[in-house]
Amino acid sequence: MTTLAILTAAGSGTRLGREIPKAFVDVGGVPMIALAARGLAASGVVDAVVITAPPGRSADMVAAVGPLSVPCDVVEGGATRQASVAAGLDRADAATDVVLVHDAARPLAPPALVERVVTAVRSGRSAVVPGLPVTDTIKRVVPDGGSPAAPGGESAQPVERVVDTLDRTALRAVQTPQGFDRELLQRAHAEGAARAAAEHLAATDDAGLVEALGVPVHMVRGDAAALKITTAHDLAVAELLLEGR
Ligand code: CTP
Ligand code: MG
Repeated sequence: MTTLAILTAAGSGTRLGREIPKAFVDVGGVPMIALAARGLAASGVVDAVVITAPPGRSADMVAAVGPLSVPCDVVEGGATRQASVAAGLDRADAATDVVLVHDAARPLAPPALVERVVTAVRSGRSAVVPGLPVTDTIKRVVPDGGSPAAPGGESAQPVERVVDTLDRTALRAVQTPQGFDRELLQRAHAEGAARAAAEHLAATDDAGLVEALGVPVHMVRGDAAALKITTAHDLAVAELLLEGR
């Protein structure tokens, strides 16, 4: 009974807009990747970690993580998050029965959340994601060609047309870590492998690949602290959360 956590950190962080890949960016003076890895290790339910690094940055990743209380390996990721997870999953041996997939971009995910996901998998749910109720009203839109140019020759605002409003009570915002029976996740990645090469085809989370197999995915309560750092605004929020700890 071994739990392996795949920590995805091979992205470039385009939307954060720093010179360095996102996982190396500090939050509260500590690289995001180190915070994320420590959170997994502190849960007490993760036996080993494998990190996906940007091409050519494996040694830098080892240095950025620093000492960890569980064994930690680094592999080079792929062109998409899905491809990176698949590369990490190749390191899961037959002794591994549970695999967690977690984003380094969620460095403040609390150890209790990690434990909640693993406990749900170990109690017989073969695919488990954390989720939170959606607070905004969510509408589906289509492009609408843009509005007429404003007087004075300013460029036109992009305008979209609302198609419908979704029932918010049935929607959840999904986080990581996501937990899986190892064999199920390997089957899901094998079946969905053709999607891994291109961003517009690739699954944005691992549960999506399991759903494509027709296998049920279960949800446990997420945690606001597990927010994903995508933009400079998210980074500022994470800094404030960390100060408050
Ligand atoms: N990721 C990865 N391999 C990729 C792309 C993303 O391991 N080829 C990881 C990122 O490092 C991140 C997580 O997947 O921890 C979620 O991706 P995202 O937040 O989109 O990060 P980036 O792809 O780095 O950011 P951006 O899309 O703004 O470039
Ligand atoms: Mg990305």
